[in-house]
Amino acid sequence: MKRFFVTTPIYYINDVPHLGHFYTTLAVDVLARYHGLKREEVIFSTGTDENSQKTVNAAKKAGRDLEEYTDEMAARWKKTWDALGIQYSDFIRTTEPRHIKAVEKFTRTVLDKGDIYKGHYEGLYCVDCESFKQEGELVEGCCLEHKKPVEKRSEESYFFKLSRYGDELLNYYEKNPNFLCPESLRNEMIEFIKRGLKDISITRKGAEWGISFPDDPEYKLWVWFDALVNYLTVAGYGGSEDYKNIWPADLHLVGKEIFRFHAIIWPAMLMSAGIEPPRRIFGHGFFTIEGEKMSKTRGNVVDPVALSEKYGRDAVRYYLLREVPFGQDGDFSEARLIERYNSDLADNLGNLLSRITKICEDNFDGKAPEVDIEKTKKGFEFGGVGFLLGDGIVKNNWDHLEKYFLETSLRFDLYLGLVVGSGNQEGGGVSGLLNRYIDHSELWNLVKKDKESAKIITYQVLEHLRHIAWWLRPILPETSDKIFEQIIADEKTRAEELKKDFTEARKWGGLKPGTPVKKGPALFPKIK
Ligand code: MSP
Repeated sequence: MKRFFVTTPIYYINDVPHLGHFYTTLAVDVLARYHGLKREEVIFSTGTDENSQKTVNAAKKAGRDLEEYTDEMAARWKKTWDALGIQYSDFIRTTEPRHIKAVEKFTRTVLDKGDIYKGHYEGLYCVDCESFKQEGELVEGCCLEHKKPVEKRSEESYFFKLSRYGDELLNYYEKNPNFLCPESLRNEMIEFIKRGLKDISITRKGAEWGISFPDDPEYKLWVWFDALVNYLTVAGYGGSEDYKNIWPADLHLVGKEIFRFHAIIWPAMLMSAGIEPPRRIFGHGFFTIEGEKMSKTRGNVVDPVALSEKYGRDAVRYYLLREVPFGQDGDFSEARLIERYNSDLADNLGNLLSRITKICEDNFDGKAPEVDIEKTKKGFEFGGVGFLLGDGIVKNNWDHLEKYFLETSLRFDLYLGLVVGSGNQEGGGVSGLLNRYIDHSELWNLVKKDKESAKIITYQVLEHLRHIAWWLRPILPETSDKIFEQIIADEKTRAEELKKDFTEARKWGGLKPGTPVKKGPALFPKIK
């Protein structure tokens, strides 16, 4: 069985998840569901990055015991993903024994390779970024990202010989042109390496929290050196060699601000340890909120749970992935969410389902019309408008849609545009086309005048909705279920449908004539 191993970053626990964290996790959830529907074995890992100075600071600020605080926060992250319907298969915490074991083994391997040495570190550190800074990266002594003063550090430290891996990395990128996506980030990494890599300090002397450096526990490992190893821990590294059955991961999906850690430091660490790099790293863009950076001080942090409770989980999933091309930066606005919801989901898709199920109930005894499938493979022409329908267009769409899901592309926006489009945009989406098919054929009149033609059209719309339900399944799982419940109202037939793989599902005529159809509640009640 083919396997698909995909990861989110592991998140810091000094706060609870916001819309930005949800965005990455949602995209991974969509990919995991998609590969699951392709009947692959999916490993989807997410988790919490707990050995961070930020954790210590947050616990202190809250006047809490560190361990208690981390347990509670990790549980809150997990609970949030559960409430949002995220189907991870592994939730990794970096304070777990399996991870500590993996990090110890990994560090020792790199030590044995001769890639770690002791030296003196003198420089600047931003605790919020958990990373080292150069003078040139600061404004008035503050980190640009967090606008807070950085710390001056001068201490003994262990270093990782990152400088040794510049050429090897560049070679690797060249031989594996799709290793880093999108291309803009790949180019940035190449430029960065060409300017020269420096060795990096990977320990903190006397830190009170973190994973100890092997044989020298006075030193704690730099949180990134520990955190990146989480991807190997998930594969089972640190125990037997069986992790090689699972590793390398197919895809690390991360935000662009931590791309460099994943695209340069992590592969260099793996090269040093003699372990294959992951197959792909994809960096996506950042969301602002109504044009502003999301931050606690601005008080504009968006809670994905509250948002989903207000509009429905699928509406939020739809909006986030439809609105912005994955990889580019985007802006979140509740007004836009409502616009999209009303035009694409309520007026277009929802309306289509309710129209056609009503026609079935009113004219065909609540069943998919009895038709000769062969006759449903071609469209009709009404008032000079030809409708390309049937097996041809459906096949084309399946092919297109699969392309948008390739990990080098990840164009969820185009994918959704093709399926649902927009209600008032000619040519926008299959569901828009079907609504116009009903309009132009005046199906509600046609059933009275020419029942044979009406049967064919009704069947065609229902069968298209079956394909739509499959297409939407990885992105809008609840909506997909609801469509299936209405167009295949009988439980046994529905269970058989849902067992299909994509090869089976994509065949035209999968909806059996005579299948019970039942109009249900509106998929997306219009927001006034
Ligand atoms: N702990 C590190 C990651 C270690 S991975 C080995 C970390 N954690 S984080 O909590 O700060 O999460 C950062 C990630 O959250 C980003 O890379 C991105 O995936 C997501 N996002 C956080 N804010 C975001 C936006 N405003 N917009 C989009 N995604 C954002 O960094």
